[in-house]
Amino acid sequence: MKTLIIYKSYHHQNTYRLIKHLNDKEGFTLMDVDELTENTNIDDYDVIGLASGIYGFEFHKDILKLVSSGKIKNKKVFLIFTSCMDKESFASTLKKEVMNNNNIFLGCFHTKGYCTFGPLKLFGGVNKNLPDDADCKNLDHFIEKYVN
Ligand SMILES: Cc1cc2nc3c(=O)[nH]c(=O)nc-3n(C[C@H](O)[C@H](O)[C@H](O)COP(=O)(O)O)c2cc1C
Repeated sequence: MKTLIIYKSYHHQNTYRLIKHLNDKEGFTLMDVDELTENTNIDDYDVIGLASGIYGFEFHKDILKLVSSGKIKNKKVFLIFTSCMDKESFASTLKKEVMNNNNIFLGCFHTKGYCTFGPLKLFGGVNKNLPDDADCKNLDHFIEKYVN
């Protein structure tokens, strides 16, 4: 099965660290959501991962926009996010959109990521060095259980 992960990871590349691990270990293809064009053939892939940091309680708006456009349909889809406060509910809107488009929802992996947003910067940020190797191991278990 071919897997494509479409991502946005601009704050500290926290989410990218996780998906780069999957690129190295599983050979999943990675594509920044900005690189998607009309010529990108999503139908070449059986499984789609959507990955981003959380920005204002949600996945990146371009990921949300992509899914609500209906371009991802009849796929198996999983989600990955990193955030300052690790709350499953950050994925609620995207999960609903995924399911509205006739996709099969495989699951969501989420963990804490380094954050220096706003006033946190003044104190050196929180969740320093996260995600780390332990998170990558947990991600491996998630992929094995829900995706592969
Ligand atoms: C503009 C902005 C808004 C954010 N909003 C939230 C938020 O609502 N909740 C939260 O827990 N973390 C929030 N964060 C923290 C990021 O989700 C966290 O640092 C994440 O790991 C960043 O991922 P990235 O490095 O892949 O971009 C925010 C960060 C930025 C820059």
